[in-house]
Amino acid sequence: MWSIAATRLAALSGPATLPFGATGRSPYLRTSAYAWTSGFYPAALWLMYEHTADAAWLERAVEYSARVLPVASWRGTHDLGFMVGLPAGLASRIDPSPQGRPTYLSAQRTAARSLSARWNGNVRALRSSYYAGKWGVIIDSAMNAPLLIEVGQREGGPAGTALVRRGTQHMLTLARAFVRDDGSTRHRLAFNPRTGAVTGPIFGQGLSTSSTWSRGQSWAINGFAQAFALTGDPRLLTAARRTADYWMSRVPPGCIPAWDLDVTDDAAPRDSSAAAITADGLLTLARTEPDPTRADAYRAYALTGLGTLASDPWTVDSGRGVLQRQAYNIPADAREGTYAWGDTYLLHALTAAATGAE
Ligand code: GLY
Repeated sequence: MWSIAATRLAALSGPATLPFGATGRSPYLRTSAYAWTSGFYPAALWLMYEHTADAAWLERAVEYSARVLPVASWRGTHDLGFMVGLPAGLASRIDPSPQGRPTYLSAQRTAARSLSARWNGNVRALRSSYYAGKWGVIIDSAMNAPLLIEVGQREGGPAGTALVRRGTQHMLTLARAFVRDDGSTRHRLAFNPRTGAVTGPIFGQGLSTSSTWSRGQSWAINGFAQAFALTGDPRLLTAARRTADYWMSRVPPGCIPAWDLDVTDDAAPRDSSAAAITADGLLTLARTEPDPTRADAYRAYALTGLGTLASDPWTVDSGRGVLQRQAYNIPADAREGTYAWGDTYLLHALTAAATGAE
């Protein structure tokens, strides 16, 4: 997989912009640093450098990270965990240069403060966006809020404690409002920002407001696993277990789900990115899970899934991108595609499988 990824990721480099992906046979799209996906390619470059120790990957990783770091001070998005937290976090661990680490930690700190500005104390959550004009939260935010916990723990003091509290509370709000009794998750919810009450679901990238969007479930598993690893909070362990167990009850080991877990048509588009994000999250959960039987089950499931993803058709050479047959927004465009997030979480999971790292 690493040599396949090397060839295909190198082919995606290009001046000034960041790789996004392609739906169907449409052209491979690139974005500015201000797209929610901008951090995935720099993150993949850090993982390539870590795996190969090849200076060419280091040079690329530094160059592409520099493109996204200025976004840290932007308060117009909730996706700063993806855009800055992920690549800067990897960079701070992997970059061998003494000047690099403080730069990346500083970007993470700025991004955490920007994200924290979206806090609403009534909802006890960070606003994701306004959906159809309504104050809303999306399940994907499970991947962004852990940045506040990570930075807050590192900083300490009253400001750091406030960041940890906000990040943890956001995750607990997701656990309470988004995780259904059976462990499946909702996609988007609107809240009343004055009372904190849920005012209703909002349709998004899933089949319906009562179904389970596959990638949403995988974001939840991965985010709760990260948040539990950071905090040790048993309520977050419960959320991680419940969402993981639901996934494992619906997707047999080594299988790739349809784009929504409630889709029953075998010919429906798959979402291999959801399988990669889940495998990555399960490896994080397996590392911190106190029950050894559960930990073994999560790790075994993740490794079986990675075995599938590393074979055709999921990583067949399509001339672009690493991971094939991902889904972006099927209600808007019902074609599979290849996207930067699936590539990156596949490599992140392969790294975790090999090293036991997060
Ligand atoms: N909105 C982020 C995603 O498609 O997963």
